[in-house]
Amino acid sequence: MRILDNRYRCDPKAAAALAALDGVEVVEGDVRYANAVEGAMRGVEAVVHLAAVCLNKSISDPTESLDVNLLGTQNVLDAAARGGVRRVIHASSASIYGNATSLPTHEDTPPSPLTPYCTAKLAGEHLLSFYAKRSKLSWLALRFFNVYGPGQQTDAYYTSVVLTFLRRLAAGEAPVIDGRGEQSMDFVHVTDIARAVGMALDSTASGMALNVGTGCQTTIADLAAHLIRALGMDVQPIFRPREVLVTRRAADIGRIRETLGWEPTIGLEEGLASVIEHLKVTGELN
Ligand SMILES: NC(=O)c1ccc[n+]([C@@H]2O[C@H](COP(=O)([O-])OP(=O)(O)OC[C@H]3O[C@@H](n4cnc5c(N)ncnc54)[C@H](O)[C@@H]3O)[C@@H](O)[C@H]2O)c1
Repeated sequence: MRILDNRYRCDPKAAAALAALDGVEVVEGDVRYANAVEGAMRGVEAVVHLAAVCLNKSISDPTESLDVNLLGTQNVLDAAARGGVRRVIHASSASIYGNATSLPTHEDTPPSPLTPYCTAKLAGEHLLSFYAKRSKLSWLALRFFNVYGPGQQTDAYYTSVVLTFLRRLAAGEAPVIDGRGEQSMDFVHVTDIARAVGMALDSTASGMALNVGTGCQTTIADLAAHLIRALGMDVQPIFRPREVLVTRRAADIGRIRETLGWEPTIGLEEGLASVIEHLKVTGELN
């Protein structure tokens, strides 16, 4: 297995641990450079395309976002098609639905990408279709919902709220919620995401996008309550009166169930416990 990463955001310890595994080669390189991608693609049978700069960066720097997320994806798919790669799994995103009005959201819901990041993710799905017609590659695009889990970075756009609340609680402070905390997310554990990627690689299904979520909506207020309970603390969240755009997320997971036989296996309570446990091991939480 070969991993191409420009180390923009990868955890150096995790990268070193991966590089130490038998049969794993970690190559430092950037998806924006076609030569680097082509070199990393040599002899490869299947590609999981995860490299991206995330949503918040997309708003502050649309050009960089499109450079990495659109042209970088184009480089990956072009090299894969020309190199005779058999299978590509593309990390797409629930954000392509915009402020979804139909919940749970089905894959056939018309997309409404609101930022360059979301536009690039959706374009990646269309580019896959373009390349599949011109080569032997088969593909699936996985539309991840709100991924969380042990080891996640503090600035993970959608799910940093988990760590932000936990860090405040660790300092003995109440979580602060903007508005009434009615915004909801569909939190899906990283272990279930990894299983979905593995099953997508092994499947012969091709040419479609699949939601990867749990189907459960958790509001920000519910999340705060879950975390307070998990830590056995006696605090109440602070509600900060603010105009907030109330967005909601919940995945319709009928298609991935039917296509891959995938089901989420880690519920929110167990998943949050795994994040808390990790923070205890790293000494960030007592
Ligand atoms: N985390 C989520 O909730 C979520 C939701 C929807 C979709 N996704 C998608 O899943 C994928 C993984 O997300 P993540 O949260 O682990 O993101 P991340 O930012 O933690 O990881 C992205 C990786 O890509 C690498 N990278 C960035 N720019 C690169 C470049 N130009 N060339 C090579 N490597 C580069 C980074 O160093 C990092 O290791 C991304 O494509 C993301 O858009 C994530």
